[in-house]
Amino acid sequence: VSGLTAVILAAGKSVRFKSARSKLLHPLLGRPVFEYTLAKVRALKPERIVAVLGDHTDALAGLYPDIAFVRGVKPLGTAFSFLSAKKYLSDGDGLVFLIAGDVPLVREETLKGFARDFARRTEYSIGVITTDMVDPTGYGRILRDGERIAAIVEEKDATRAQKIICEINSGIYLFRRKGLLKALSRIGKDNAKGEFYLTDVVKFLPALAYPIADPYEVLGINTRRELSIAGEILLEEKIGRLMEAGVSFVQPHTVYLDYDVEIGQDTTVYPHTIIRGGTSIGRDGRIGPFTMIDKSAIGHDCHVLFSHLNRVLIGDSVSIGPFANLRPGSVVGDGAKIGDFVELKKSVVAPGAKIPHLSYVGDAEVGSGVNIGAGTITCNYDGVAKHKTIIEEDVFVGSNTTIIAPRRLGKGSYIAAGSTINEDVPPGALAVGRARQVNKAGYSKVIKTRILKKGERK
Ligand code: UD1
Ligand code: CA
Repeated sequence: VSGLTAVILAAGKSVRFKSARSKLLHPLLGRPVFEYTLAKVRALKPERIVAVLGDHTDALAGLYPDIAFVRGVKPLGTAFSFLSAKKYLSDGDGLVFLIAGDVPLVREETLKGFARDFARRTEYSIGVITTDMVDPTGYGRILRDGERIAAIVEEKDATRAQKIICEINSGIYLFRRKGLLKALSRIGKDNAKGEFYLTDVVKFLPALAYPIADPYEVLGINTRRELSIAGEILLEEKIGRLMEAGVSFVQPHTVYLDYDVEIGQDTTVYPHTIIRGGTSIGRDGRIGPFTMIDKSAIGHDCHVLFSHLNRVLIGDSVSIGPFANLRPGSVVGDGAKIGDFVELKKSVVAPGAKIPHLSYVGDAEVGSGVNIGAGTITCNYDGVAKHKTIIEEDVFVGSNTTIIAPRRLGKGSYIAAGSTINEDVPPGALAVGRARQVNKAGYSKVIKTRILKKGERK
């Protein structure tokens, strides 16, 4: 639509949402409600987008450099907010598109169809998307005169007879500029809420109803319950799109994904898995069950089972879990294995290295071909600062080894099981850092007798 100015109303108080923050800042599949509305508006390719913000939503002003903001607007009603964007509404050609900030589910196609239709209906000054709701409670009801809207009555002002009207106002409008400012300035606040209702503008200019079939599209987010309903709808759509692209979900209704998660073809996501914050997962993977992945990039052919991955980078053909905890800053190379009960923190594990069980590896570099035995611990923290452990290529670390950082285990060295390593190990060396074993012949009896006697004395 050429010459379009789009206005997003975002200066309300979110009273029904019961939050210290505006509902528009609350996340829906990981991104603010406002951002969905904005994305829909952008699809219309308006010449300019203006968002009207109040104190509760001022945080939005810094986030989107390409849109204009009218800030500090008092929550005196939707008409008051719209009028606050006055300087963008004054005369000129082109239409003004207006949307409440809390209608995130509307389809781009719906908006485009609405705009095309209204552009032709030059006898009308206002177009309003409407729909029939099974339960219209809380929405403005449409009083019709044929295709024309005679009035919109808000819930609190509606009579009993008006309350059973199922056709509601979506909060999405198009306006012709001619006469708009004048009509807006005629709106009063003689109503139950004492607010300047934008919906009253239909009393002063001819308004055309544009009914749509799917009421979910114009679900308004007023309460936490509505936020969760919108989340379910978006999630189902998101998972549906991934399935169409070749991703399998076993029990999809138990899986949660953020909006921007990417998953490659022939990967299967098992039940009770949560994938968030821009995570990308490659092809042919098996993810879950009972896995949580945050802000991570995972390659192809990876298996992740009962684990938590947070801000990590994983190569191809990596096996993780069960019960691994991969903490921020960790990088795992192709073909590596991070097994059961392994915690990685800010560590780089080279391709092919193996940490199969029960280990803590923090602030470490683990070279390729390294095998770390069960129960190995990098002591990276001395109570004051963190220190690095460098384990070069092909080192064998025996089970139950503690490595007191900072330490370097040279290439190809061999660490005896049970060692406490508090000196660097040269390449190729065997390091034994434990008390030598002593066997005392026949002494078993002696020790047992001694223990028995001790017991009798008590
Ligand atoms: C509004 C409509 C109602 C419609 C419904 C659709 C009015 C009077 N009512 O009601 O007919 O069915 O949307 O979802 O317009 N806002 C401001 N300033 C304010 C108040 C609100 O900018 O003073 C913004 C809010 O931030 C929100 C949007 O306008 O993004 C809608 O406000 P809300 O309070 O949710 O309106 P509803 O009561 O739902
Ligand atoms: Ca609303």
